[in-house]
Amino acid sequence: MTQSSSNSPRLSDDAATVTATAHPNIALVKYWGKASEARNIPAVGSLSLTLDGLATTTRVAAAGEDRFELNGNADAGMGQRAFAFLDQYWPGRPALDIVSDNNFPTAAGLASSASGFAALTLAVDTLLDGGRDRESLAQCAGSGSGSAARSLFGGVVRLDPPTQADGDIRVRQLAEASDFPLELVIAVTSAVRKPIGSTEAMRATAATSPYFDAWVRDQSQDLAAAEQAVAARDFDALAAVTEKSCMKMHAVMLGNDPWLLYWNAATVACIHEVRVLRASGLGVCFTIDAGPQLKAVCLPGDADRVADTLEGVDGVTDVLRASLGRGAFLHTP
Ligand code: PMV
Repeated sequence: MTQSSSNSPRLSDDAATVTATAHPNIALVKYWGKASEARNIPAVGSLSLTLDGLATTTRVAAAGEDRFELNGNADAGMGQRAFAFLDQYWPGRPALDIVSDNNFPTAAGLASSASGFAALTLAVDTLLDGGRDRESLAQCAGSGSGSAARSLFGGVVRLDPPTQADGDIRVRQLAEASDFPLELVIAVTSAVRKPIGSTEAMRATAATSPYFDAWVRDQSQDLAAAEQAVAARDFDALAAVTEKSCMKMHAVMLGNDPWLLYWNAATVACIHEVRVLRASGLGVCFTIDAGPQLKAVCLPGDADRVADTLEGVDGVTDVLRASLGRGAFLHTP
């Protein structure tokens, strides 16, 4: 295969097709708001768990023209977003055939954009012989979707707040999956695509929510508390800051004009169930993203009880389970 011009990204000699998998990640200290929308730089730092089980697998190959398929169907909207992202980092790239599959609901608040952009970045960088290190891959993926930067790393991951100096993002692993073996129980309460995407919702809240500035100002305290809890493997401390960060993020949205609410009745019912379970002594807390699914973070010994309880909640259509997993990886040909 040939390159399209002398300065264009070069196709790797040994890779006609490259396949990469990335797992979604779930933030315990949330990212909400952008310091720069043009560069997609988060306004705040965040801390997340990379999951196993749930996955996006993406295959890329050079082709006669750009084509993007998601979950077995041509997807023009997602394709446009993906190719605009690729043009930014690989100007002059060859046309690409991209086939991506999620083994979980897409764009429903289950972080499919995080795993999607992480897998795409790793696959395309490998195909085009980019040879970027993980940090740089995280920078790239993060400009496609802020949370995607975190899916390049496994276990417990921290994304630093942007620095004044360059505004670049920095991501690092705080603990290997095996060092702090938490489990996730995800109560799916609707698999419908969310009515308003996170970028649009972030823009709206920054413009109209009176709580947005306070959210940004307070974030470093939450990040520090969560990092300390992870270092000490202190589940109770982590649970407290996790729920606090989640509720504050959704409070910013409730303060939007007009108000914005991603939850449904089953989401709220699950919150109450988690509270009852924790009061009875179980190691469990909840978090919720830009969608109506509730993610229960559990100590391993308590995850079965949590799953049994959430399965019985009215309006819960499915319960997914995950442990902590690895960062984005390549398939060997
Ligand atoms: O990565 P984005 O642009 O889809 O934003 C994700 C934001 C939340 O999922 C709501 C929070 C987070 O930190 O993942």
